[in-house]
Amino acid sequence: MARTVWDSTVGKKTVMAVSGLVMLLYLVAHMIGNLKIFFGSGEFNAYAHWLRTIGGPVMHEEWTLWLIRVVLVAAVVAHAVSAYQLSRRDIRARPTPYAHRRRRASYATRTMRWGGIILGLFIVWHLLDLTTGTVHSGGFESGKPYQNVVDTFSTWYGNVIYLVAMLAVGLHIRHGFWSAAQTLGVGSRSRDRALKAAANVLALLLTAGFIAVPVGVMTGVVS
Ligand code: HEM
Repeated sequence: MARTVWDSTVGKKTVMAVSGLVMLLYLVAHMIGNLKIFFGSGEFNAYAHWLRTIGGPVMHEEWTLWLIRVVLVAAVVAHAVSAYQLSRRDIRARPTPYAHRRRRASYATRTMRWGGIILGLFIVWHLLDLTTGTVHSGGFESGKPYQNVVDTFSTWYGNVIYLVAMLAVGLHIRHGFWSAAQTLGVGSRSRDRALKAAANVLALLLTAGFIAVPVGVMTGVVS
């Protein structure tokens, strides 16, 4: 049964929609959490510490965080694998090749593909930058994310990488949220305008909320 669903195009699109919504929930929480940086290092670092103790005393330190990480990794893998397989299927579905050798996918499809690749690369960079400190520009200190974030946005390339990624997040969510609603059957002629508006507002709020942090550091509001 699960195999039949996974093999179908609708099944893969459903996997994309559900895993996308899981990641979207995480992003909304992450964006709101990041805004605590405007309340100073004490509050921001305390919030990062709290992330490691969620669920206590029932859960041991970092157990809940690891649970969240496992769910997120599963969502990212499911999303990427189904996206790849759907795009292969899309190319194979055409019985005769196009007259022009290269087939041009629609604007939305191209934006989603490239946006997805940029976001995948960004997540790797972001983890190496602010979670492990491997590529971090300053003296990375785990448990001191406030200073780590300020260091990242004190370099030109840190700002460029994050600003490009944040724009990709906005564009990806704008189209992805809309597509997910269609796949999950929420869309209808009367609701489509409202869904499009909701996708635009959500994308705008997330992008603006994330971008506020580097802009805060660049303008000296956060230092
Ligand atoms: C300006 C934008 C962003 C800032 C300032 C930021 C900041 C941070 C910081 C400080 C951490 C480390 C938290 C800690 O170890 O306590 C972190 C972790 C993380 N961020 Fe971001 N982030 C941003 C955007 C994003 C975006 C757009 C994504 C996803 C596309 C993302 C995904 C993650 C993930 C998956 C983790 C690892 C969580 C964990 O397992 O501990 N972040 N972020």
